[in-house]
Amino acid sequence: MGEQTRSQFEFECLATCSVTGARAGRFFTPHGIVDTPRFMPVGTLADVKGVTPAQLADCQAQMVLANTYHLHLQPGEAIVEQAGGLHAFMGWSGPMLTDSGGFQVFSLSELRQVSERGVVFRSPRDGDIIDLTPERAIAIQNILGADVIMAFDECPPYPAERAAVEAATARTYRWLERCMTAHERTDQALFGIVQGGVHLDLRTQAARELVALDLPGYAIGGVSVGEPVEAMHAIVRATAPLLPADRPRYLMGVGTYREMAIAIAAGVDLFDCVIPTRLGRHGTALVRSGERLNLKNAQFREDFTPLDPLCECYTCQTFSRGYLHHLVRSREILAATLLSIHNITELIRFTRSIRAAIFGDRFARDFSRFLN
Ligand code: GUN
Ligand code: ZN
Repeated sequence: MGEQTRSQFEFECLATCSVTGARAGRFFTPHGIVDTPRFMPVGTLADVKGVTPAQLADCQAQMVLANTYHLHLQPGEAIVEQAGGLHAFMGWSGPMLTDSGGFQVFSLSELRQVSERGVVFRSPRDGDIIDLTPERAIAIQNILGADVIMAFDECPPYPAERAAVEAATARTYRWLERCMTAHERTDQALFGIVQGGVHLDLRTQAARELVALDLPGYAIGGVSVGEPVEAMHAIVRATAPLLPADRPRYLMGVGTYREMAIAIAAGVDLFDCVIPTRLGRHGTALVRSGERLNLKNAQFREDFTPLDPLCECYTCQTFSRGYLHHLVRSREILAATLLSIHNITELIRFTRSIRAAIFGDRFARDFSRFLN
């Protein structure tokens, strides 16, 4: 990684917790700064479902995700390139991250064949044979043009034989080396992904090997794939502290309060999850008590209070639970938009409130209910 790239993607640690490994920082990207810890909304197909970029900015979103796998299938990276890259194509001028497609191929496509070369699978869209290799995944992400791009990895299922997890973890390392060689743009940071399943010795070894490659950022992958939550906590606690303190750490696919708080205590900075938008489309609101409100429920019919009276989102500032109940019951698409706006704002608020607590060195105390 050249000096030019390094300076463009600096991670600055601004405060640390005196009790846990939590830190508050700033991650610099060519499209702006990400204040960490922070939750990142998922915009799989170059859109966060039901939410416009202007609305996302109002939700205090800073960095947004998109997916190589989905965009390669539809509309194809050539179209995104013609549009001037992902930022211009989708109208989001802030920091962006693309996932490599590895995880999505393993979870979404049938008829896949995995070899040392890469993955061959049938497009669920039109049945076409698609060939995804580390080189191809990086070439596509170089074309899409997100600020952060992810290594092409093999995420083993859970449960799996230890030998299979070991093989996938070793292959993920070899694929990472190929990704680094293929990566051509100095204005994009390539993050490595630690795999290793629930085996802490494999995680530890993988983390050490990745750190030696001196990447601009590191992710912990292969969690939230069906393992018990305690196993995920153990993985994060064993892995995050091994990653360099001066690089961002990203826990992939995690967005529940307790899991984010525990990961932040272990030193993780970034999170993403489809939970807020998926729940929003299903008529559910996340509220700061940790409860999930099902707006379909008759109890909200005559409730003209906001979802959360303390929430600063557009939905809570403007509409009542009773109105949202009506929209959900009537299957209006506005229900999904308004609930997604609230849910995204709420998860970002949670990570921002932790950030503020770290600055005041009161994280361990104020968030102890999540940490014990
Ligand atoms: N998203 C959630 N988990 C993973 C993972 O293990 N690898 C990749 N590439 N993306 C993910
Ligand atoms: Zn709200």
